[in-house]
Amino acid sequence: METEIILVTEENLDEVVQKATKLLKNGELVGMPTETVYGLAANAFDKDAVKKIYKAKGRPADNPVIVHISDFVMLRDIAEVNEIALELAKEFWPGPLTLVLNKKPSISDEITCSLPTVAVRMPSNYISHAVISAADVPLAAPSANLSGKPSSTTAKHVFDDFFGKIPLILDGGPSELGIESTVVSVVGEKPVLLRPGMITLEMLATIAPDIQLSNSIFEELESGKPVESPGIKYKHYSPNAEVILVKGSLEGFIRHLKTLTHGNICAMCFDTEQEKIPIPSISYGDINDHFSQGRRLFSALRMVDKLGSSKVYVRVTEDEGDYLAIYNRLLRAASFKVIEVE
Ligand code: TXA
Ligand code: MG
Repeated sequence: METEIILVTEENLDEVVQKATKLLKNGELVGMPTETVYGLAANAFDKDAVKKIYKAKGRPADNPVIVHISDFVMLRDIAEVNEIALELAKEFWPGPLTLVLNKKPSISDEITCSLPTVAVRMPSNYISHAVISAADVPLAAPSANLSGKPSSTTAKHVFDDFFGKIPLILDGGPSELGIESTVVSVVGEKPVLLRPGMITLEMLATIAPDIQLSNSIFEELESGKPVESPGIKYKHYSPNAEVILVKGSLEGFIRHLKTLTHGNICAMCFDTEQEKIPIPSISYGDINDHFSQGRRLFSALRMVDKLGSSKVYVRVTEDEGDYLAIYNRLLRAASFKVIEVE
């Protein structure tokens, strides 16, 4: 199959949306931008199309996908909406928040992997909004990366992972946020934050003061324990290189790097630090600006493989507040390997 990439502009938007919609109606997959990361979209009401997502990504059959909507009528068609869900949705949609809700019968087991719940989000990116609304059906769309690999934040990343496997990729430029949506379950007694994102715990707490942080954010899963969000079971965001986090000061980071026998290794650090790093390095943003880190994190992880490194040492700082979403992705990329330095 040939894979076409189309750069979307205001001028060609209608034409491109029509093309994407036609493919989606025919059960094909389309790579599309959202404000978080690129998604690999299929008609959520077409079971065979949803199955194609799992096949193309190599996604484990027990990791459900997010359903994307463009308005509240679609929401009503697919999920039971309670009061807290509605309040969160009104505050943060359209935007980078996914809500886990009880599903309605229109949502198949192919989407939810037989769970009684469905994850739903209303993206704010104008291209994805236009595609969903023209398709007039919700779109199932996980991040557009091969399972286990860093998410795609450019159309080129999507092409690298799926060329020959999908017919169309819409290029909307680099992702505005670069980190996947915040996932919150609202089906239990209290809302639970399952995956941190750019909508932070503090922001959510303004609407849902009793929100809890899932343990799974910091801890490796114990085998046999029930899983709140199936995706957390699996290795994620990983380049081919082994990822090791080094937590502490810049001086401590440099001291640690100097103890290593320099082989095929590289480092990830913050802007302005590169000149002090004794091995090849890639910056993943301004140390004081989590938005710049979000935009660059996945590109930096993909770059590690372009350099052909077998190991990457990643400088990390504290693991709270705005940095939590970034730290969480890195922790998973490193399979929880963290070295603490002074
Ligand atoms: O920003 C995003 O959310 C992007 C863009 C494309 O919208 N999508 C994305 O999808 O990150 P994906 O499939 O890579 O991550 C979906 C996460 C997984 O961790 C999955 O386990 C969880 O949402 N999830 C999906 N359905 C769920 C459910 N019913 N209950 C709990 N977790 C669920
Ligand atoms: Mg993903």
